Amino acid sequence: MRLKEEKENILQTIGNTPLVYLKNVSEKLNTNVYAKVEAFNPGHSAKDRIALYAVNKAEKEGRLKVGGTIIESTSGNTGRSLAMIAALRGYKCVFFTTTKISFEKETFLRALGAEVHICPASAKSDAPESYYSRAKSLHASTPNSIYVNQYYNDSNIEGHYSSTGPEIWNQTENKVTHYVACVGSGGTISGTAKFLKERNRSIKVYGVDAFGSVLTKFHRDGEFDENEIRPYKLDGVGKKIIPGTVLFEYIDKFYQVEDKKGLLRARHLAKTESILTGPSGGAAIEGLYTMKDEFKPTDCVVVILSDHGAGYLSTLYNDDWMRKNGFMESDANKNGAEAKNLHNQNQV
Ligand SMILES: Cc1ncc(COP(=O)(O)O)c(C=O)c1O
Repeated sequence: MRLKEEKENILQTIGNTPLVYLKNVSEKLNTNVYAKVEAFNPGHSAKDRIALYAVNKAEKEGRLKVGGTIIESTSGNTGRSLAMIAALRGYKCVFFTTTKISFEKETFLRALGAEVHICPASAKSDAPESYYSRAKSLHASTPNSIYVNQYYNDSNIEGHYSSTGPEIWNQTENKVTHYVACVGSGGTISGTAKFLKERNRSIKVYGVDAFGSVLTKFHRDGEFDENEIRPYKLDGVGKKIIPGTVLFEYIDKFYQVEDKKGLLRARHLAKTESILTGPSGGAAIEGLYTMKDEFKPTDCVVVILSDHGAGYLSTLYNDDWMRKNGFMESDANKNGAEAKNLHNQNQV
């Protein structure tokens, strides 16, 4: 039996995520802000789009055959998307992630049947123990395997060029004036920006980066400066390398966000817009506040909220974790301390 409305499997629900008006943020910034809520993807993040695109392409090109292995270095979300696809299509998944991964994300990967290896977050990217190096070397020794390598894989850009870009263009009735996204591998911002700028060259594209990442300085000065690198907590935002998947020519400017401000902004968004997003979603919204002078009341600003906050219940949304990391005051009055923090940012 087939039903008219049925989806053949869960992968058919990837994409076509809603564009949601952010009333509170729009009022505060005196413009019109719409969030592309990527948590509506079945794997709860924008990475579903690129994982599906990359696997389909590898199959079509004969690089991945029945019984093959999918290998990736991932902070969790790409792995989750790949694991979802692999479980349905009968592939084995081996992932290398870092000590920054949350308990929820790691558990999710294993629940979908993936093998997960944790590597030190502090390792230099070319060190043998880094999550990049370990994935690369396993791929070299495993027949019928693909190393998705999202940081140097054009599928990462094409996946967004073919879906996120057209969706935003159509959902805003071609009215989008600004497009804002956090940059990690750069696939989201690059693919989407390329599509949008090809339609209308005057659309401004702003990347949100973390303090501690090398991307902002590289974009501004053309210099890879290792001295910029320092640890930070905003998952998925910024990089210690310059990925091949950041199309810098489509990004007008980068704005950097501090851990504390990005994380508190995500918590504030949950209470004001009822959207539970991850640290990168908080950073993206915080980025909007940083760039607020760029916006006019008639503008149509689209911001990407890359993943769901449920993956961070033990970190970002856990008061003890926030206090332990110095992001909230050790105050008996938690809500008071949080309000004071945001008030100090002069943004509430
Ligand atoms: C939660 C989250 N937000 C944002 C990003 C950045 O997206 P992109 O890699 O497409 O630049 C990532 C990438 O890893 C991510 O995992």
